[in-house]
Amino acid sequence: MTGSEQEHAEGFLALAKNRRTIYALGNRLTLAEEEIIETIKEAVRQAPSAFNSQSSRILILLGQEHHRFWELTREQLRKIVPPENFQGTSDKIDGFAAAAGSVLFFEDQQVIKGLQEQFASYADNFPVWSEHSTGIAQYAVWLALTEKGIGANLQHYNPLVDADVQRTWNIPESWLLRGHMNFGSINAPAGEKTYMDDNARFIIAR
Ligand SMILES: Cc1cc2nc3c(=O)[nH]c(=O)nc-3n(C[C@H](O)[C@H](O)[C@H](O)COP(=O)(O)O)c2cc1C
Repeated sequence: MTGSEQEHAEGFLALAKNRRTIYALGNRLTLAEEEIIETIKEAVRQAPSAFNSQSSRILILLGQEHHRFWELTREQLRKIVPPENFQGTSDKIDGFAAAAGSVLFFEDQQVIKGLQEQFASYADNFPVWSEHSTGIAQYAVWLALTEKGIGANLQHYNPLVDADVQRTWNIPESWLLRGHMNFGSINAPAGEKTYMDDNARFIIAR
């Protein structure tokens, strides 16, 4: 697709183009919490997974619980970031905490283990497909939030925060944290995005 074709994209491709990493997020959402929760649930429900294994698991944190996540992350980072760099790290955390909520994406390792036992010849593939599945679920949620005018960014403070998350929200031991999506109102648009040359990326044979 050329640049000008992208500018005229409609429907799904317009939505895909509109989805960006938004760091300047606020907590002024025009959508009711219940509608946001249902949007996230439906995006995950409709996401495909290997053998329809539905291995994705989700923790949605809103308001104070979202803050709680970032406070425990800040305290874990304090232990490993050199003191002279910590102020910058802490400021970054303040930025993430200012969002309205977050979606934590897990993959249930018990499901993957069960599939490996059931279909031994594919055993090596199931962990890989689980990673594909969480990626698809994450993208689906990101798009669904975008469609509702909600901004988001994707973070990875796992495995640093895994034990705290498990303890704080009573998460089953088999759930493995794979990513964390902050979401909220859009205080500033995404930065400029560059695209690599299509000729280096796509091979078309016909
Ligand atoms: C698998 C994956 C991991 C990412 N991890 C992070 C991350 O840990 N922190 C972050 O700020 N952005 C992260 N991002 C966001 C990318 O930096 C971003 O998607 C990319 O620069 C393209 O920008 P866009 O999202 O605005 O299109 C991640 C994106 C993907 C797809």
